[in-house]
Amino acid sequence: MKGLILSGGAGKRLRPITHTSAKQLVPIANKPILFYGIEEMAAAGITDIGIVIAPTTGEEIRQAVGDGSQFGVRVTWITQPEPLGLAHCVLIARDFLGDEEFVMYLGDNMLEAGLSAFVQRFVSERAACKAAGGSEPPAAQILLAEVSDPGSFGVAEIAPHGRVVQLVEKPEQPPSNLALVGVYLFDQTIHTAVANIEPSARGELEITDAIDWIINEGHRVDHEVLSGWWIDTGKKDPLLECNRLVLGTFSRRVDGDVCGGSSIEGRVVLESGAKIVDSTVRGPAIIGSGTTVESSEIGPYVSIAADCRISGSEIDNSVVLRRSTVTDIIGLTDSLVGRDTVMSRSAHGDEDRGPTRLSVMVGDHCRVEIG
Ligand code: DAU
Repeated sequence: MKGLILSGGAGKRLRPITHTSAKQLVPIANKPILFYGIEEMAAAGITDIGIVIAPTTGEEIRQAVGDGSQFGVRVTWITQPEPLGLAHCVLIARDFLGDEEFVMYLGDNMLEAGLSAFVQRFVSERAACKAAGGSEPPAAQILLAEVSDPGSFGVAEIAPHGRVVQLVEKPEQPPSNLALVGVYLFDQTIHTAVANIEPSARGELEITDAIDWIINEGHRVDHEVLSGWWIDTGKKDPLLECNRLVLGTFSRRVDGDVCGGSSIEGRVVLESGAKIVDSTVRGPAIIGSGTTVESSEIGPYVSIAADCRISGSEIDNSVVLRRSTVTDIIGLTDSLVGRDTVMSRSAHGDEDRGPTRLSVMVGDHCRVEIG
């Protein structure tokens, strides 16, 4: 079985962060989202992986992933000239995929459950059907999750007997609250399907339409309803929620320096080379190597990447990317701060102002002064 990870696309909903970098590289608990997906594939025994990238952000992703050996996998890079849809990715990956079964994984999705059991079910179901002879093996297997806003996803309609009868992408009137999670298993039938569908109203070749085509052709599509959390991290608040969930699984590990009257409370990961001076860090939180936190209160649910400098500030429920500086900002909350960004108090600000709450999404290389 092969793996196909989709890491192209335009990343419009995480702008301005994604003006300058790939949304799949935004870190969750200081590790790029995409890396979790690659690790899941490796854990499921899938080591031959194609990664679809965009011409704009692809090089950065290639640099980060390398040849895949850090994950124990082999990576084939597939450049998609334009973001023409998830099914278009399957079209352009045809040479890499051949006629093998494969798992397709959306590079901005994260799920609590691993892939192994889901993959294993497809493999054994197909093997059992072939061994029995006669009964048709599933051509695809999809993963569904109950959501409160199904209109934002691909949605499945399941008949009372348990078969998938219809799939529709971002419907105005969803037939159910079961959303398609970004993990799919396919046999070679999908190649005929993607060649037979038309672009949707948003101009994309939808994988949802391709699977719906498979159903309408009378083939079997199996499904599983996910237990455990699943997050499409493509927007700020789900991304912060995902950061909270992953940080919540961490154990305490303090490898960095803790100086002055600092206190490190609860499940905090302080990487070697990080320095905490006269500050409180409340877990769950992670502070990257080379980062200094001084006279500040950090946490809970904060990820600060490597080589940042935080001083005189209070930050909770936020993600700060590499090499950024936050100075004298009180009440920074629910925020995503890009790389190489400088946030500070304006020299003309009101010194006596009481506590504030500040929630921002700031891109890379920005300068922000709060009055
Ligand atoms: O997250 C689950 C949802 O993902 C499903 O419920 C939907 O049925 C499915 O269409 C998809 O919807 P999104 O609108 O969230 O897809 P998005 O454009 O965010 O793309 C998902 C991933 O695929 C992301 O890592 C970018 C990549 N991609 C996307 C497009 C459109 C590509 O590599 N190439 C593309 O052309």
